[in-house]
Amino acid sequence: MMSRDLSEEEGVGKVPLLFLSRLSLTDFRIYDQLELEPSPGLNLVAGPNAQGKTSLIEALALVSTGRLLRGSKDVQAIRHGCETASVEGILGQSLTRLTVELRRGTRKRALLNGMGLPRPSDLLGRLPSVSFSATDLEIVSGEPQDRRQFLDWEIAQLSPAYLRHLTVYKRALEQRNALLRQAQDTPVSASVFEPWESQLSDHGGALRETRTAWIDELSRDAAEAHARLGGGEELCLQYDIRDEGDVRSSRAIDIQRGSTSVGPHRDDLVIRVAGQEARYFASQGQQRTAVIALKLAVLAAAERHFKQSPVLLLDDVFSDLDRSRRSQLMELTLGRGGQVFLTCTEADQVGFELIESSTIFQVESGRVSRR
Ligand SMILES: Nc1ncnc2c1ncn2[C@@H]1O[C@H](COP(=O)(O)OP(=O)(O)OP(=O)(O)O)[C@@H](O)[C@H]1O
Ligand SMILES: [Mg+2]
Repeated sequence: MMSRDLSEEEGVGKVPLLFLSRLSLTDFRIYDQLELEPSPGLNLVAGPNAQGKTSLIEALALVSTGRLLRGSKDVQAIRHGCETASVEGILGQSLTRLTVELRRGTRKRALLNGMGLPRPSDLLGRLPSVSFSATDLEIVSGEPQDRRQFLDWEIAQLSPAYLRHLTVYKRALEQRNALLRQAQDTPVSASVFEPWESQLSDHGGALRETRTAWIDELSRDAAEAHARLGGGEELCLQYDIRDEGDVRSSRAIDIQRGSTSVGPHRDDLVIRVAGQEARYFASQGQQRTAVIALKLAVLAAAERHFKQSPVLLLDDVFSDLDRSRRSQLMELTLGRGGQVFLTCTEADQVGFELIESSTIFQVESGRVSRR
């Protein structure tokens, strides 16, 4: 439902989706130079600990979304001792070139076929991807902010309109918070607050509406994937609006607090497994299963939206999962026909049939060889 509205509104569905046919890294994390030619199907990235597998997945996430994996700061991805880093991906068939450059002391820059883009997020939609990495476990175990970030990032990939609402909302929030702190010392008239509050109210309403619709869409697929992965336990998603009130009516309290207490920047996504709030009660395996189910639901939604399979970036997805969950996960992810990158410490972790049908990259100390 939502995907159709969004694609009609934005024409995003028309952007051709391709696979990545080439990846070049310069001074990115452990890599000084790397040239990789992945297959359009399954790519297994294997190697012992601390050799550069996650770094590779992160580079792929960066050219796809303009962002590193959850929890990483841009400057951290520049190789120690270097001033700049760059990641370049070439899309199969169209040969479109996506580049992200990181530089110490300034903001990162994204380029499309060598031409600078206004914002790194302008890369979104050209090589849609769904990623899973260890830090994504925070979606279940972390704070409300971690779950809002999940919603914001995933929805932004599908909807430039959502991203615009979010950008305006965040700026208005910063402005209002600055005024609130100013008003603690010197009176600030209502008319100064008004334009920001009206933006918060309008764009905040749009954010909540889209998040609610998206969670509704996600719920079905997430529950289904979870049942398959978790042998029948029920996964439930619910958007939790902390306070429905109007931002203007909380102004007096907010001045005392020095921050805005009402709005979608305070909401949460409640995730329940077998009736219990997963954040507090789920085991590690259950948390991992819940996050993977969410990501699989995102994948299904993105497939409907783009009418093609996004690139799947799965980092260390098997740890903490028992044998039955592993094999269910394999079935759910790998039979889809899209491009997949999957890391593991030993290639035989994934089973003989998959090894047969995949391209295997062996990673050792920032060097990658094709096996
Ligand atoms: N900016 C950086 N410059 C140089 N080295 C870095 C940088 N960031 C991370 N590293 C190093 O890169 C190495 C590889 O990290 P990475 O997370 O890619 O390993 P991995 O193969 O995924 O390991 P694991 O199996 O333990 O998950 C680590 O030893 C890390 O310290
Ligand atoms: Mg790793």
